[in-house]
Amino acid sequence: MSVLKNGKSGESYNISASNEIDNLEVVYGILKILNKSEKLIKFVSSRPGEDTRYSLDSTKIRRELGWEPKISFDEGIKKTIEWYQENKEWGANTSDEVYNETPWENKSWDNNMKGIILHGGHGTRLRPLTHTGPKQLLPIANKPMSQFCLEAISETGITDIAIVIGGVGSNKVREYYGNGEKFGVKITYIEQDEPRGIAHAVRLCKEFVNDEKFLVFLGDNIIQKSIIDFVENFKNSDYDATVLLCEVDNPSRFGIADVENDNIIKITEKPKNPKSNLAVTGIYLLTPIIFEIIDKLKPSWRNELEITDALDNLLKQNNNISFERITDYWKDTGTPEDIIHANGEIIRKMLENSGANEDQMFGTDTVIESNVKIINPVIIGNNCHISSGSSIGPNVSVGDNTTISISSIENSIIMKNCKI
Ligand code: G1P
Repeated sequence: MSVLKNGKSGESYNISASNEIDNLEVVYGILKILNKSEKLIKFVSSRPGEDTRYSLDSTKIRRELGWEPKISFDEGIKKTIEWYQENKEWGANTSDEVYNETPWENKSWDNNMKGIILHGGHGTRLRPLTHTGPKQLLPIANKPMSQFCLEAISETGITDIAIVIGGVGSNKVREYYGNGEKFGVKITYIEQDEPRGIAHAVRLCKEFVNDEKFLVFLGDNIIQKSIIDFVENFKNSDYDATVLLCEVDNPSRFGIADVENDNIIKITEKPKNPKSNLAVTGIYLLTPIIFEIIDKLKPSWRNELEITDALDNLLKQNNNISFERITDYWKDTGTPEDIIHANGEIIRKMLENSGANEDQMFGTDTVIESNVKIINPVIIGNNCHISSGSSIGPNVSVGDNTTISISSIENSIIMKNCKI
């Protein structure tokens, strides 16, 4: 009514509780009200573009028309449930379904492609941060960087994922990802005793992979684009492997593909005299044929079984490797500079996706006093306090429970629970 009476013609107004909430939270809330077990929750793989989180900003209607919701979001859910209970015939078909109560670990996963995230390595260039935990858990835009890999994989519909762990603090990886339920995927952990190379880590997954095509994602590789198309193309192809190539400025730091007439003719690890600037990124689409090849590999000069050597041998064996190009952002986050750069880029992209709605970039219970200068891109976690006189940004992420007073911070990652 207030829109009809006082709204300006041609304007749109969002009506909402203005709370940001994800689907799972709503489901837990509903089960609690109904006093039902969380085991009733059935996870299915999500479709591309599906929303997992909802937030509608109703600031405009509140400010311009003085509208306020009469009841809270929680009360609204309760009333909705009551309505459904009183109008059972309305949802009869749905409620007749027999729920699948199989525990998460025992569920059968019918998507035939599998995913592997590598979480090993020493992370030497990121010491001292990597003295206590794996670099793949360092935060980018307030999330462990390997979570971006996991989300990119699950977005393709792959739900059966192995994480290869090893080295300092690998228990932290298990603690964070658990059985995968929170992330809508099933996770199996595979231990690597020593960092003996990517090919070695992949070989450890032979039983997990079985006879299927699979995807390997290095947990320290960050990309912004979805990999759905790459995976679909590979699924529908007869290639033994597909690699994703990306142009780089410093080819001697990567595995490099030599491409002639649209065919890869050679792949070399960290060449001294690179023939191209096309890096083989840490996202590999493979078939079990690679295991036989890895079995015959010799360790490289850095005493590792190199995936690039395996791919090059596969190339020599049957020339059945294709490639795709990543033309937008890709980063191997080997150094502090790389991580800071990736942090800025990811936050910038998030901000773009949020329609430049800054408020979405600040967590709940976070107070930003007046006279604080925010220079985007910036993301601030939950329960933070930024006091007057501070300047935050550009390219800054601030972790949960952090207080910042009278400071000027740019190009930085501030972790959780800091006091500056
Ligand atoms: C590894 C691979 C290299 C690849 C890079 C991508 O390098 O050996 O071929 O280009 O990942 O991130 P590393 O991080 O071990 O130096």
